[in-house]
Amino acid sequence: MGIKEIIRKGKRCVVLTGSGVSAESGIPTFRGDKGLWKQYRPEELATPDAFMRNPQLVWGWYNWRRGIIAKAKPNAAHYVISDMEKFFADFMLITQNIDGLHRKAGNKDILELHGNIWENKCFNCGKRYGEIMSEKLQKCECGGYLRPDVVWFGESLDREVLEMAFLKAREAELCFVIGTSGVVQPAASLPYVSKESGAYIVEINLERTPISSIADEFISGKAGEALVKMRELFLHGSG
Ligand code: OAD
Repeated sequence: MGIKEIIRKGKRCVVLTGSGVSAESGIPTFRGDKGLWKQYRPEELATPDAFMRNPQLVWGWYNWRRGIIAKAKPNAAHYVISDMEKFFADFMLITQNIDGLHRKAGNKDILELHGNIWENKCFNCGKRYGEIMSEKLQKCECGGYLRPDVVWFGESLDREVLEMAFLKAREAELCFVIGTSGVVQPAASLPYVSKESGAYIVEINLERTPISSIADEFISGKAGEALVKMRELFLHGSG
């Protein structure tokens, strides 16, 4: 069966996305020549230790990223992925992105594996706070510092979110892997779980990744451009 037939007949679909999906919205990716981790060291900005050492530096860096994300709009890739949610009877979007653009584009069934940059919580007591746009570090009523509610290196992912992601990956007949380098665990394991249970794997990326070796179809190119070409399939089941 080719991809068109699989899409027409498949009912259970998961999509795993990474920062490449938001690249066309002007949000920098992490790895690669222009990636954030070329300019900044993750251990100085995205770990609990880094926050303990210099909470203002970490808060300020996330505030800078919030500024970029606040100006960004969903791109064609986000919109086609929201069409996919409507097309498939059982659909789950599993994203490593923290920018919230998938929700803005209309997706509702989303598992945000690494949290959401717009949410905050107290580093000390865990109390949750909503959106705060401020260069200056903020304090909780308990006296602890507020931090973005994202997953940092060395931290565990939310258990329920992760369990649901693995369940959906296992049940899927079709798994799209879009714009992720496929090197950060446990997200990178999800397509393997789908593959083991017999799903058809479609990868869209500018370049090959470790996941490419298990992909039934590798589409080389920008996520927005590649997905727009498939859009008719998700709107009418033909194209
Ligand atoms: P990476 O920066 O590691 O990878 C981005 C991927 O997107 C690369 O494989 C690029 O080739 C691809 N890419 C870039 N532009 C693209 C485009 N327009 N269309 C399609 N593909 C494109 O980002 P992630 O895989 O998301 O975690 O990184 C995973 C995690 O590592 C992030 O969630 C973050 C990071 O450190 C934490 O902060 C915990």
